[in-house]
Amino acid sequence: MKYEVNDPVRLTDDGKAILAIDQTLLPNHVAYIRLEKPQEMFDAIKTMQVRGAPCIGIFAGYAMFLQAKSLASIHTDKEHFYQDLHKFAKFLSTARPTVMNLPWALKRMERTAANNMRRSFDTIVEAMRREAVEIHEQNIRTCYAIANFGLTLINDGDSVMTYCNAGALATSRYGTGLGPLILGAQKGMDLHAYICETRPMLQGARLSAYELGNAGVKSTLICDNMAAVVMQQGWVKACFVGADRVAKNGDTANKIGTLGLAVLAKHYKIPFYVFCPSSTIDISCDDGSKIVMEVRDSDEIKREYFKSPVAPDAVDCFNPASDITDARLISAIITEDGINYPPYDFN
Ligand code: MRU
Repeated sequence: MKYEVNDPVRLTDDGKAILAIDQTLLPNHVAYIRLEKPQEMFDAIKTMQVRGAPCIGIFAGYAMFLQAKSLASIHTDKEHFYQDLHKFAKFLSTARPTVMNLPWALKRMERTAANNMRRSFDTIVEAMRREAVEIHEQNIRTCYAIANFGLTLINDGDSVMTYCNAGALATSRYGTGLGPLILGAQKGMDLHAYICETRPMLQGARLSAYELGNAGVKSTLICDNMAAVVMQQGWVKACFVGADRVAKNGDTANKIGTLGLAVLAKHYKIPFYVFCPSSTIDISCDDGSKIVMEVRDSDEIKREYFKSPVAPDAVDCFNPASDITDARLISAIITEDGINYPPYDFN
């Protein structure tokens, strides 16, 4: 595949490593990291150098290919090769437990290995390389379809509120929640975004403002606690967010703060739309109560992105990475298959 500048994750030309934009350094530095070893790959996801559910899925595909290649060079029997590959998949899947695209991609890669088990190691590894590339290419097609569906929900001149970052950095090329805005700008539409900064990791301020600016979408950055006043003024036509995992009934796990925004949107009668590839939908999960919540280090609240700590060292923090938005607060869930309206029953 021919990589482009807005592919946040790719294979190196020599096929020996993953090259990823270090998203923790944006927007001030555009720096790439090269990842080869299992622990480096785990850490890149855990520390959010690589982030955004679909992007993590793409990364996991390439990681499985590289691990298969490395295991094939040390194993002579397939059973041990497969066992070690499975161990690696289990290890990587714990890096961000809420993100559905991670186990989805890992399982898909394991299945590819299993389906080719009677063939030579070279053939297995090549099949896995092709599958990883297909996961990546499929995501690009998917995001484009989602962006097109999303564009039908807004009109020229509209302003939309966004949360976290569901753009190309979180996927590849178009993004999900930001996709309609990026595509709209390409089509010459006059669209505007109110970007919530998204405490504590500031994906809105650092990443969405950066991406929408590059795409030529006019934007206004607000702190998260300013969303209510913007809605109250009637300045936004809709809210567009991504998803980390969607349960069968439509309950949606996404970046912490999404739930609060959905409650506000309901109050002010503003449509609240969730955008995700169908690979984010967990049909084994009946409702949101079954989704694992990731709780992260309190330093993200107290120190990260500040010159000096903003709270006493001793203060206790609660830092969940995601929350669950009840399906009844969501106006529609947009996937590559179309616009799904409630009641949701994904299968
Ligand atoms: O914690 P992050 O930065 O990985 O969170 C990302 C989000 O919340 C996104 O909305 C979600 O992963 C979907 S990205 C298209």
